[in-house]
Amino acid sequence: MAVAVESLTEVNPLALGLERGPVPPTTLTIFGASGDLARRKLLPALYNLAHDGALPARFNLVGISRAEMSDDEYRRFAREAIVSFSRRPPDTQVLEGLLTRLRYVAFGFDEQEGYGRLDGVISELDAEAGLPLNRVYYLSTAPAFFGVIMERLKAAGMNHHRETDVRIIIEKPFGSDLASARALQAIVSTSFRERQVFRIDHYLGKETVQNVLAFRFANYLFEPVWNRNYIDHVQITAAEDLGIGTRAGYYDSSGALRDLVQNHMLQLLTLLCMEPPASFDADKVRDEKVKVLEAIRPFRPEEVALNTVRGRYTDGVIGGERVPGYLDEDGVPEHSGTETYAALRLEVHNWRWAGVPIFLRTGKRLARKVTEIAVTLKPVPHMAFQNADSAGVQPNQLVLTVQPNEGVSISLGAKVPGTRMSIRPVNMEFLYGTTFLSESPEAYERLITDAMRGDATLFTRNDEVDAQWSIIDPILAAWRASEVNPAPYEAGSEGPEEAQGLLGAGRHWRTL
Ligand code: BG6
Repeated sequence: MAVAVESLTEVNPLALGLERGPVPPTTLTIFGASGDLARRKLLPALYNLAHDGALPARFNLVGISRAEMSDDEYRRFAREAIVSFSRRPPDTQVLEGLLTRLRYVAFGFDEQEGYGRLDGVISELDAEAGLPLNRVYYLSTAPAFFGVIMERLKAAGMNHHRETDVRIIIEKPFGSDLASARALQAIVSTSFRERQVFRIDHYLGKETVQNVLAFRFANYLFEPVWNRNYIDHVQITAAEDLGIGTRAGYYDSSGALRDLVQNHMLQLLTLLCMEPPASFDADKVRDEKVKVLEAIRPFRPEEVALNTVRGRYTDGVIGGERVPGYLDEDGVPEHSGTETYAALRLEVHNWRWAGVPIFLRTGKRLARKVTEIAVTLKPVPHMAFQNADSAGVQPNQLVLTVQPNEGVSISLGAKVPGTRMSIRPVNMEFLYGTTFLSESPEAYERLITDAMRGDATLFTRNDEVDAQWSIIDPILAAWRASEVNPAPYEAGSEGPEEAQGLLGAGRHWRTL
């Protein structure tokens, strides 16, 4: 048996990257420790890792924010966050065990003196452990502080350590356009080496997003049709029924294109379109992803209107409740021109994909929350059945559902039972929920452990971010230059009607 496993890894280099070593002893420092992301996602993720025994035996968490708090007060904050947002009800012993590993240091992110105190606390934790622990800094602050924190860490000499690994996790958004992303990258690269840097795109931490790779590269069935000869078009959807909540300040300066397309949706596209990497080594995977992004030719100004649609929700009804339009949301400026919906028609100009339109759409306050990739094959070249009987024949469609109802479905034409040769589409379906009975970890659980391990496969490299902004920048510029407001769509609907026009004759958006 052992021999068989060995020979399997020998013949399949992709299997090598799947072997995961233990997480080294680590002190994780979260900047922005009392913020919304820490409360809703990071602290609950750390609890669930502790619950699964996935944290290193030696693990400390140091919280940093401006608010004055004692260690115990921060523990109370963390306890409340975990109880409210953990995906499983916390076990008291595990929770209290984790809380004993928490420390808190208060300072403003621009105060150099605070970094000295932080270094003191981290060194105390090393002394307690009897060895220097790996150091991971997590930037979960407003993006304006990312550069400041990195510069201060460098000035304090905390960006490297002779005896142990120092890493930095940077939350999104990485810049708000190409120029600001490059300016931020200039600070990153003067403070850290690329192998120390982990840029978050939390979609890459989702099980079902990783399954796109498993689906494509662990099965031989799909590869022969995975190209322009057989695929008619691709639709990638990230629809949300929620509005902007209390985030007007951030959202109004961002909009749907920056908030979801520049990062999450382009990442989904690269995973779907990339060539098989030689191995699951972080750089091998990311090399292939960059090639896809670089093969998407940025639009010329006159191409933008033809290939994009932007929309903004008006009031409407969602889940039986009346909800306000975007312009009436708290905190949105009266004359805002921000879009809450974006649809794009992109093309990957390479040998595999040339001529295959890839449609992306995302929006707030749409009919329901769904993230999926739908690949529609071409119609059969010749229909042998009589017209009346073949009325139900549809091109095959393969749908990878990222969330909710995570799974994969393939539509096929099948004979309706009876004496006639009549055909209708049926679905072959795999659902995570019924196949794997265990609950999937949250994206942040996977990403935090990967960063502590130093595995950057599921993080975006600098050249990826650069290529993503290069695609988005001309669209932003053309939208800014146009005097036209985003097209209205009713909250709870399928989005603006204009989006239908992007698809071309004979194609339809999948119903939300
Ligand atoms: C975030 C965006 O990156 O992703 C939010 O800023 C969006 O606006 C969220 O709601 C969607 O993430 P998920 O995991 O709920 O699909």
